[in-house]
Order: sequence, then structure tokens, then C-alpha cells
Amino acid sequence: MRNLKIDVSQVAPLVSRQMIEKEKEKTLEQLKVLSDKTGKGNDFLGWVDLPSQITPQQIETLNQTAARLRRKADYVVVVGIGGSYLGARAVIDALNSSFDHLQPKRTHPVILFAGQNIGEDYTYDLVKLLKDQSFAIIVISKSGTTTEPALVFRILREMLESKYTKEEVKERIVAVTDASQGALRTLAVQEGYETYVIPDDVGGRYSVLTPVGLLPIAVAGFNLVELVLGAADMEKLTSPEVPFWDNPAAVYAATRNLLYRQGKKTEILVNYNPKLHFVAEWWKQLFGESEGKEGKGIFPAAVDFTTDLHSMGQWIQEGERTIFETVVAVAAAHRRVLIPRDEANLDKLNYLAGKRIDEVNKMAELGTRLAHTDGGVPNIRIEIPELGEYSLGQLLYFFEKACGISGYILGVNPFDQPGVEAYKKNMFALLGKPGFEKETKVIQERIK
Ligand code: PA5
Repeated sequence: MRNLKIDVSQVAPLVSRQMIEKEKEKTLEQLKVLSDKTGKGNDFLGWVDLPSQITPQQIETLNQTAARLRRKADYVVVVGIGGSYLGARAVIDALNSSFDHLQPKRTHPVILFAGQNIGEDYTYDLVKLLKDQSFAIIVISKSGTTTEPALVFRILREMLESKYTKEEVKERIVAVTDASQGALRTLAVQEGYETYVIPDDVGGRYSVLTPVGLLPIAVAGFNLVELVLGAADMEKLTSPEVPFWDNPAAVYAATRNLLYRQGKKTEILVNYNPKLHFVAEWWKQLFGESEGKEGKGIFPAAVDFTTDLHSMGQWIQEGERTIFETVVAVAAAHRRVLIPRDEANLDKLNYLAGKRIDEVNKMAELGTRLAHTDGGVPNIRIEIPELGEYSLGQLLYFFEKACGISGYILGVNPFDQPGVEAYKKNMFALLGKPGFEKETKVIQERIK
């Protein structure tokens, strides 16, 4: 069986199976609203049936662009932030060799991510690294005016323009943006860049299976067909016709909302594989931006175990009992590393000699689960069979679907993000952006 599995048995006794069972009807109703596109934010539901609509031709076109960038450049810089960044990063980091960027004899470009912060030192280091290198840019922005990516794109574009002919620059920049509007679309048309479209009805945090995620993932050399197939299979597995207990997205959405109503205000996404770190970052944005509104919403946090057991373990075991854990487990590690026997045995590890590292990791997970549930931390466990494209496609779509259902159960619109504008307005006013004169006056009064 290649499918993702969910286990909610360890949220008891706080939330029993009977309690989840009682949520069945309401949850399936919300799933139906989502699938029929009749609920809040229904103009942003293009992602719901996206995986099954992606054609082999679309994948082929993406692979051709990716092959050109791979041929041309030693570094491909993916410029974007938030929903225009985290999905690609999540998949690439999960699938890449952990030390890929340090491989001395490379046959494919290093993928770098930029435009996701305003750190001047970071930008300086990036420019310094790329100055004498052959590089290409995938710039991703629906609006085209988001400050972080726009700043770094301006700098990197100038670097390419000062080094190459206009024709060559065109070969090295690909823009992923709105179909017809925005600054990036205007620039791309003007300069003749190759472009891909972010569909109008897909918001940033649900866009990993559009060219936003797919193009960088293809450049990194991963199999889009398998990724999309995994997502399309999960689309079927989470459709309204599927019985509640066979639909992992419905079970997850119902269970986390019950936990929330029992006072569990923070959900910690846990992994036991550091390659999943950015899957958690992507998940944080997905759930945080979708549910955190109107004074409501589970706070999405994340930890990497066992690393963070040595820093956050104390709090999780004995701190305020307002948390629950959702573990994303991988059934079996991809590679084998056996623990060697050592004659002196000073570290007392010979009892593990001959075992796989993954076996130790699995016992760490089980031991932690027992300790944390004993300590009053309910545990949801999501398991994927392996860290490969197909399973990741399933996982990403599973979380998207669960998030939509969960937001509807909570009673919010999971597809808008009005709150993210507040800091931008202040920053623009402080920087004196034209059009913000009134706000500048107000803010200067406030901070003087
Ligand atoms: O989910 C969102 O809406 C945000 O994270 C955006 O994706 C992010 O701000 C980037 O926006 P844009 O693609 O317009 O540059």
C-alpha cells in the first residue's frame, strides 16, 4: 500500500473515537461545500481539482524549461516569498541529498532561494557568490510588487544584464506570475521573458502544484509526473464520496478542531527527519494564514526531532497543557546506514551494533510518543511510506484539503489573508512610498 495513513488513536482520552465519530456529518458537509465550491472564498478554490487536471503536455513544457536552465546555469536562484517560495523549498529540501550543494562534481545546478527576507548581509553574500558564476533566475510573484522578491530580483537582473546580451538574459530569466496583470507581467512582456501563469483562482499558499512549485522542482531534477500523480490520487482519496474514516483529510480536520475546542490551542508539527523541516515551514503558512483570523485559529508551530527534544523537549513534556502534536513520519528511511561494533565500546553503543540508524530513530519516536501522551500531549500520526515524489504529492494535497475543511469547520474563510497587509502599510509609510503620505503623517505622530 503506497498511501498516506493517519492514526488518531492517541488523542484519547481527551478526544475519543466516539467524539470524532459525532463530527462525521458536519465534517463531510464542509467537505462537500469545499468540493462544490459554494462556501467562503470560493473564487480561490482552483487548487481543489488541480492535480487531476494537470496534463502531460503541461509537465513536458515545464521539463523543457527546466532542462534549458539546468544546461545554462550552475546556480538557479528561485526568487519569491511565502506562497511563492515555501512549496518548492519544501519538496526540493525533502528530496535533495542533504549535502547536495556541497557536492564537488555536480551534474546539475545548485538551487538557491532568495527574496524571502530583507537581510542586507544575506543579499551581499548572494551577490558575492553569484558575481563570477553562471546563474539563472526563476522569479515568482503573483502581484509582482512584493517588496522582498522585487528588491532582490532588481539586483540579480542588473547583474545578468551587465554580463550578457538581451537575448541571453531572456534565456536565463523565467517569470511565474499573474496571467495578465501586475508589474512582473508587464516587465516580462516588455523584455520577452518566458512566463508561466499563477491561476487567478489559486492563492499563494495553495500554489505548490502550479508552476510556482513545479518549475523549481523540475529544475532540481525531480519527477513531476510522480508528484502530480500522488496529489491526484489524494484528490480522489479525499473526495466527498469517500467514507469519513477512509478520508484522512476529513479525519485530521475533525480531530484537530475537537482538540482545539478542548483547549489545545497550539499544534506542533513534528518530524523525525530533518529533510522535512521545510515541509513544516510550508504547513505553518498553510494553516496559519488560512485559520488565524477573527480572533480564532490553532497556532501552528513546528519542531525537528530528535534535535529539538534537546531544546524544546522539556516544555513539550511539562509546560502549559495547551498543545498537541502531529507527527509526520516516514515509514522507512531511503538509505541504509548500519551501526558498527567497536571493541572498546566506551560509548556503550554495542547493544545497537548491526542495527540501522532508522531503527533507533523509530524507537526514539515511539518512546517520545509514549512520554508525551503520558504528559498530556495528544498525538496525531501521519505516515507516508517513503520520502519520494509520489508520497510528497499525497502529503501536500492531503494538508491542503484538510486545511480547507478545517477552516470551514472553524467558521472562517481559509482562502484570504487580510491581516498580512497591516505591517506592509506601516513599512511603506515609514519608507515614504508614494501614495502613503497620509499614513506617513499618522505614523510619524505615533512614533515621535
Ligand atoms: O499566501 C500568500 O498569499 C502570500 O504568502 C503570498 O504568496 C506572498 O506574499 C507572495 O506574494 P506574491 O506572489 O504576490 O509576491
